[in-house]
Amino acid sequence: MKEIGISSIGAAVPEKLLTNADLEKMVDTTDEWITTRTGIRERHILRPEENIYEIVTKAARMACDTIELDPDKLDFIVSSTLTPDRFSPAQACEVARELGANHGFCFDLNAACSGFVFGLAMAESLLKSRNDLSYGLVTAGEQLSRVTDYSDRSSCVLFGDGATAAVVTSDRPQHLLLCTELGSDPSMSQEVVIGGINDLLQDRRSNYYFRQNGKVVFKFAVSKIKELLETVPAKVGIKPEQIKYVIPHQANQRIIAAGKDFSIGDIEFISNIEKYGNTSSASIGLALHENWHRFQKGDYVMLIAFGGGLSWGAALIQW
Ligand code: ACO
Repeated sequence: MKEIGISSIGAAVPEKLLTNADLEKMVDTTDEWITTRTGIRERHILRPEENIYEIVTKAARMACDTIELDPDKLDFIVSSTLTPDRFSPAQACEVARELGANHGFCFDLNAACSGFVFGLAMAESLLKSRNDLSYGLVTAGEQLSRVTDYSDRSSCVLFGDGATAAVVTSDRPQHLLLCTELGSDPSMSQEVVIGGINDLLQDRRSNYYFRQNGKVVFKFAVSKIKELLETVPAKVGIKPEQIKYVIPHQANQRIIAAGKDFSIGDIEFISNIEKYGNTSSASIGLALHENWHRFQKGDYVMLIAFGGGLSWGAALIQW
C-alpha cells in the first residue's frame, strides 16, 4: 500500500487586526468577557477590497517553496471554504492560476470548520487510489468576517480570517498520514447556519449572517473530541495515551481545555486562538504551521475538527 503524508505547510492571515479593545467600541462587550469566555484577544480580518483567495495563495506559495516544489508539479488542488470570494471559479482554480499550477485538477469542498481535515482525507484517497497522482495541495481559506453581523455581540467577537495550505504526497512523504476519520450528523444541521444567495436576493440579511446554538455546539465539540481520541488511535493499533499532540479546531479555549481534561496521559492540546480567533476550516492548519518545528520524529500528532453540518473529522499523523 502506498504511503501518504504531509511534506510541508504554509499559513497566512490578512494584515488588518481587530482587537478586543476595538470590539468594545462596536458592541456592548468587554475584553474580560471575551478572554474568559472564549480565550480570544485579537483576530485578523480582510479589508473590503481584499480577497481571501489572495491569502490562500500566499499560504500555498509558502508550502511549495518550503520543499522547493514547482507548483506546476501539483496533480490536484482541493480547497476547503465555506466563504469563497465567488461561486465560480472554484477557489482552488483561482489559487492554481495565481500559483502557476497549470496541470492539475482543482475543486472546492465545504465541510464547514471540519473542511481542512476533509481535504486531507480526499487527498489521501486520491493519492492511494490513483497511481498517476503524486502531489496534492490541500488548502483552507476562510473569511468569516464577511458573514458576521458586527452588531451581534454573541458572534462578532468570535471570528477571524485566515488561510493554510499543505502539500500532501505519495512521493517520499515526510510526515505520514496514518488514517483519517470523517462524520456528519445532519439531525443537528440547524445548530450552525450561514445564509446564502437566496437570503441576499430576497433581502433577508439577518438570515445571511452566521448564527449558532453556542451551548449545543460546545457540548457536541467536547464529546466529539473525547470520542475521537478514544476511537481513532485504535484504528492504527496505538493507545490514546501514545498521542503526543492534539490540534483541535480553534473555536473556544474552554473547549480546548475541556478536551485536555478528558484525555488520558500527557497529551499537549495546542492552542493559538488568542491571536487569530475562530478561522473556521483554516484554524487547524494555522496551528499546525506554527508548531511544525516543535514535533520530533516519531511523535503522534492528531488533528480534530468539528463544525457546521454538524460535522467532524480527525487525522492521525506520525512525525
Ligand atoms: N460580551 C458580553 N456578554 C456577552 C457576549 C459578549 N460578547 N456574548 C454573549 N454575552 C452574554 C449573553 O447575552 C448572556 O447574558 P445573559 O446571561 O444575561 O443572558 C451571557 O453572556 C452568556 O451567554 P452565552 O451565549 O450563554 O455564553 P456562552 O458561555 O455559551 O459562550 C460561546 C458563548 C462563546 C459562543 C460558546 O457557547 C461557544 O464557544 N460555543 C461553541 C461554539 C463552537 O464551537 N462553534 C464551532 C462551530 S462554528 C465555527 O467554528 C465556524
